[in-house]
Amino acid sequence: MKITQFFTITIMSVMTVSTINAQQKLNPEIEKKIDVLMSKMTLEEKVGQMNQYNGFWDVTGPAPVGGTSEQKYENIKKGLVGSMLTVRGVKEVKAVQKIAVEQTRLGIPLIIGFDVIHGYKTLSPIPLAEAASWDLKAIEKSAETAASEAAASGINWTFGPMMDVSKDARWGRVMEGAGEDSYLGSKVAVARVKGFQGDNTFKSPLRIAATAKHFAAYGFVESALEYNASEVSNNTLFNQVLPPFKAAVDTGLKTVMTSFNTINGIPASGDKYLLRDVLKNKWGFNGFVISDWASIREMIPWGFSKDEKAAAISAVEAGTDMDMEGGIYVPYLIDLVKQGKVKQEFVDDAVRRILRVKYELGLFDNPYRFLDEKREKEVIGSKANREAVLDMAKKSIVLLKNDTNLLPLKKSGQKIVLLGYLAESKNSPLGSWRIAADSNTAVSVLEGMQQYKGNSLNYVKGLELTTVEPTFLTEVQYNTTDKSGFEAAKNAAKDADVVVMVLGEHGFSTGEARSRTNLDLPGLQQEFLEEIYKVNPNIVLVLNNGRPLTISWAAEKIPTIVEAWQLGTETGNAVAQVLYGDYNPSGKLPMSFPRNIGQVPISYNHYSTGRFTNKDNNVFWSHYSDVEKTPLYPFGYGLSYTTFEYSNLKINKKTFSKGGKVEVSVDLKNTGKVTGKEVAQLYIHDEFASVAKPVKELKGFEMVELKAGETKTITFTLTDAELGFYNNQNEFVVEPGSFKVMVGGNSDATLSDKFEVN
Ligand code: NOJ
Repeated sequence: MKITQFFTITIMSVMTVSTINAQQKLNPEIEKKIDVLMSKMTLEEKVGQMNQYNGFWDVTGPAPVGGTSEQKYENIKKGLVGSMLTVRGVKEVKAVQKIAVEQTRLGIPLIIGFDVIHGYKTLSPIPLAEAASWDLKAIEKSAETAASEAAASGINWTFGPMMDVSKDARWGRVMEGAGEDSYLGSKVAVARVKGFQGDNTFKSPLRIAATAKHFAAYGFVESALEYNASEVSNNTLFNQVLPPFKAAVDTGLKTVMTSFNTINGIPASGDKYLLRDVLKNKWGFNGFVISDWASIREMIPWGFSKDEKAAAISAVEAGTDMDMEGGIYVPYLIDLVKQGKVKQEFVDDAVRRILRVKYELGLFDNPYRFLDEKREKEVIGSKANREAVLDMAKKSIVLLKNDTNLLPLKKSGQKIVLLGYLAESKNSPLGSWRIAADSNTAVSVLEGMQQYKGNSLNYVKGLELTTVEPTFLTEVQYNTTDKSGFEAAKNAAKDADVVVMVLGEHGFSTGEARSRTNLDLPGLQQEFLEEIYKVNPNIVLVLNNGRPLTISWAAEKIPTIVEAWQLGTETGNAVAQVLYGDYNPSGKLPMSFPRNIGQVPISYNHYSTGRFTNKDNNVFWSHYSDVEKTPLYPFGYGLSYTTFEYSNLKINKKTFSKGGKVEVSVDLKNTGKVTGKEVAQLYIHDEFASVAKPVKELKGFEMVELKAGETKTITFTLTDAELGFYNNQNEFVVEPGSFKVMVGGNSDATLSDKFEVN
């Protein structure tokens, strides 16, 4: 490339970033109403719209700054509050909404936010588990169910979905996302936004505004340590971190939440480039940006803002429109604008965006439209919602190993022994984000299995998991000393036909501020497993966890392993139906399972390096000296009670031009004895490009149900969207060259062929 060419491209790319490219359409009628309303608003009332307070009882972060309930009520009356979070229930929401609507000068309604992450009261599986279903319709339905219950409770805005791509299982928040892959993550993000927001008209009072969080790169925090720094290249940022957010914006997403981390040195809430240039200008996002809890204030300890005033200036200029529990905008922004230190236009832009979402939600037409006590009673915990979360729970289970066909269990004549605290727990399966759900309301695995009466079932706890039952606000204390239950468990297990052991993490071991440096089965569970194995190796290990764990010993010795995550309210029913074969598992891992902690972060879409294989048979190649570099279980992996065979891979043409379509077909046969579902996955490798490309990248998947012996031909279509990437000038390009296509049932897919793009 000539030097002159280089400069042209660089300048063009800068221009591209600042170009307004409105993809979200504006409604001119709403815009006119906003003009009229804003012309009546004082500066104080405008800044008030940019302020969000926490509610009165659930706290999801450090000490709230909004003061006592009385002070908060006073500020609502003064028009100094635009939103509340974590106020819930029709009665409570009505109480605050009435003040905003009936006692403030302009009667602007509040928007009511809440962390509806995997359900409201009726809980779905944790989001990582849902992603393991790869079933986008089911995931959309799950978000719709969650939205319906939250909306019926007076909430009109959820702080979800979380769409942080992460390859680091040490990070506790991987349970909230869709795993390690940006393509799967984008599809899941879109499904969730659609589930929450419906068709974006909000004609139904059971749909709520969604939030894409955490913007951005929170899944790449250094050392997987919470609230830490992320140092990510533009290559990683544009090709891996941002695509789910972009896909959500293109779906009509209403709000975005900033992250707690810095991105290459800039705290996310003060990142003008990402918020204003990329999100708002380049992507044309018309909704509003909310800070994470106190993250504007936290720019001070980060050493980025010297004081509260500086934090206010950076955040508002960057494009953080609403301050969640930071107590920064109301006290400082008004004077800063009056003194000419912040341009009025930044405040006006923020307020316009916030009012726009309130109009779109129909809150100005009827501020009480989400507040119907009859509907609240009918919708929350309804039979239909229980059925929806049960369906989702079954689809989220991943069968990791079934070497001796212990599963499915026989329906009669078997002596089954069930072990482990997690088998009886009605609390841990509810997972971490379940603020509105009552504790101990999950169906336990024990209860689920008790419904199958043909076998003898003997439950022995054998091991306490924790020393005290944890909560959302406490650290989990695992039992590391008390083995007193081992003997009883061994005695029960030794004569059983099958021993089902439910082991893993407590539901509160993942989520915010739950990073771990060790991914083994916590506490004494590994020892417990090995002791039982000595007396009876016929073990079905049912894992309950919110992240990949290091289970190399179990993977080698234990014949049967079922990944059952934390599956929410219907956990026990879902697990029992899978164990007894009434549901044939079809889940596939959304994150690689490492062999040991030293491999983490790990993902299937790593780079080839210059020395990928050991072709010279010497030590100088890319490897670990002590363990295979491959994961224990790869991304996309999962078995079924039947087996599948892929064959006959065909590509419709060998040479393609940009803008064309590549059709890749493959025959998939059910070679086993029962009906089953398989997620066929397509990966590509761009063999030569202007930046080094990952060894493979997921670019298509399809779930197919096949009867025993049945074959179907699946066709995947690849377009510029799948073949292109962001180059090192952050431009989306499709470059000519050779592409390898790989198809199979997981990321180790081996059936392959090639085509050229010219
Ligand atoms: C902090 C979390 O990071 C965020 O995800 C959540 O929505 C807020 N707290 C509100 O609870």
